[in-house]
Amino acid sequence: MTTPTPLVAGNWKMNGLSSSLAELEALETFVKEQAEASCELLICPPFTLVAAMAVKAGGSVKIGAQDCHFNKSGAHTGDISAEMLKDIGAEYIIVGHSERRADHEETSDTVNAKAAAIHGEGLSAIVCVGETEEERDAGQTETVVLGQLLVSVPDSATPTNTVIAYEPVWAIGTGKTPTVADVAEIHTAIRGALVERFGEAGKEFRILYGGSVKPSNADELMAADNVNGALVGGASLKASDFNGIIDAYRS
Ligand code: PGA
Repeated sequence: MTTPTPLVAGNWKMNGLSSSLAELEALETFVKEQAEASCELLICPPFTLVAAMAVKAGGSVKIGAQDCHFNKSGAHTGDISAEMLKDIGAEYIIVGHSERRADHEETSDTVNAKAAAIHGEGLSAIVCVGETEEERDAGQTETVVLGQLLVSVPDSATPTNTVIAYEPVWAIGTGKTPTVADVAEIHTAIRGALVERFGEAGKEFRILYGGSVKPSNADELMAADNVNGALVGGASLKASDFNGIIDAYRS
């Protein structure tokens, strides 16, 4: 078994104009000038910037997208397919983010179909799972998260083409985070479920933590058991903040 290379991924959400390309440039400068980080780096800007960022990226940062349709093409006004994103240089696509599940009523079955479409294009899916505050208060965290995981991850998943992101909904954009012990507990449960389903390969999937990751808490969160990187929202928008999180993987 090989230990997975951690992934630090930025999710820009609905933020960024063409002027934001400068943040990618600044990030690449940090990466070039500072000690080498033992992780892979990814930025997922809005669709409108994917092509320009993929052209601009100098190799140290990969570019991805935040969603796709599960069909390859067709009569789906306003939608974008995995094939289209591959065509413009995306390597990863986030699916099942809680904001998509809430705002667009995406179910785990839909997320499964999207991830399978991404695999069909030879790209990697970042499949998000996470409980709401009510579910956590009701003691249902593990049931909800493992339930979402089981349905959202398609049978075509391998450690190469799939990354899991555990993002407690109540921690997203709130400044609140679970304790390191809570993160370790749920990540270990996710690991167990992956091993149960995929055998030895289950040990090699990367499981990212997401939800209010900042330079000040990245070290301790990234050191938790079975945490193989971060999915970062707000703090990925500024290269200096994102670079501070990457520091967790610099020695
Ligand atoms: P946040 O968002 O880092 O702003 O909490 C994380 C995410 O939603 O991916």
